[in-house]
Amino acid sequence: MKTVGYHIPVMLKETLNLLITDRKGTYLDCTLGGGGHSKAILDEIGSEGSVLAVDRDAEAVKYASELLRDYKNFKACQISFSKLNELDEIVFGMKFDGILLDLGLSSRQIDDAARGFSYISESGLDMRMNRNDEMSALEVVNNYSEEELTGIFFKYGEENRSRKIAAAIVSQREKKVIGTTKELTGIIASVTPSNFRIKTLSRIFQAVRIEVNRELEELDIVLKFSMDILKPGGRCAVMSYHSLEDRIVKNFIKDRSEGCICPKNFPVCVCGKKPSVSALTKKPVTASEEEIATNSRARSAKLRVFCKL
Ligand SMILES: C[S@@+](CC[C@H](N)C(=O)[O-])C[C@H]1O[C@@H](n2cnc3c(N)ncnc32)[C@H](O)[C@@H]1O
Repeated sequence: MKTVGYHIPVMLKETLNLLITDRKGTYLDCTLGGGGHSKAILDEIGSEGSVLAVDRDAEAVKYASELLRDYKNFKACQISFSKLNELDEIVFGMKFDGILLDLGLSSRQIDDAARGFSYISESGLDMRMNRNDEMSALEVVNNYSEEELTGIFFKYGEENRSRKIAAAIVSQREKKVIGTTKELTGIIASVTPSNFRIKTLSRIFQAVRIEVNRELEELDIVLKFSMDILKPGGRCAVMSYHSLEDRIVKNFIKDRSEGCICPKNFPVCVCGKKPSVSALTKKPVTASEEEIATNSRARSAKLRVFCKL
């Protein structure tokens, strides 16, 4: 599905309702993309609040900065959210009332054939969200060992045919470098029954993309760091689009919302663990049927929100 415009923000109303507690507050959008969520937050909070936003993709920062140029209480920076600790505002001690993470890719990134994220269009094997990063999909596909490829296809793609696909890639690249999405698609298709082809292609492309962009490590780091930069009572809203990310968010909230973890037969607590967050969504919030009907990318979205105690 091609999107008209840069990106249609998902679950806008639901996110704002759960994220904004103070109209004079300071908000951090960690995944600026086309600026849809940032704009909605800015419109909701008015001129006394402010939004700081980051994205690792220079093109997104340029696009959204232009879109939001009239908001004097908005600032955008190009940086990965795992490196928020390097931002001047944060070094100088800025704390936030709300943090938003709308994970994954924007529609623009997927639809731009030259970025190499989609198995539908032909392009060079790239898949970097930040085009200045050293490692691209070309490197993963051509330089990772057969075991490493099997591992990432299985772990990040949850693909049963991981071993077979990795072996086919390794055998093909001994003849010639695998340089394009079309070549990779052809190799995957050659060892996949036609009725599984679409699912397998999307799983393998997802796995390579997660590896190239270290997406799960990034998420781990930012969730932990959010605890340092949220004000007490501040909220963090995370929207994920596949089960691997959602599991990390769910486990983070579960772990931090539990107190003492001593064995039940201990007479007193010796672990000293206290809850540090409370879950504001017992189950993930999902998009309405109406929203899914107009934006199919909303179908897989799961929104979880926690509050720092
Ligand atoms: C789903 S889009 C966000 C869309 C945005 N909420 C909007 O309304 O347009 C995800 C964005 O997050 C960015 N991104 C993903 N991982 C990131 C990371 N680790 N650090 C910074 N930006 C990241 C991507 O480059 C992409 O632009």
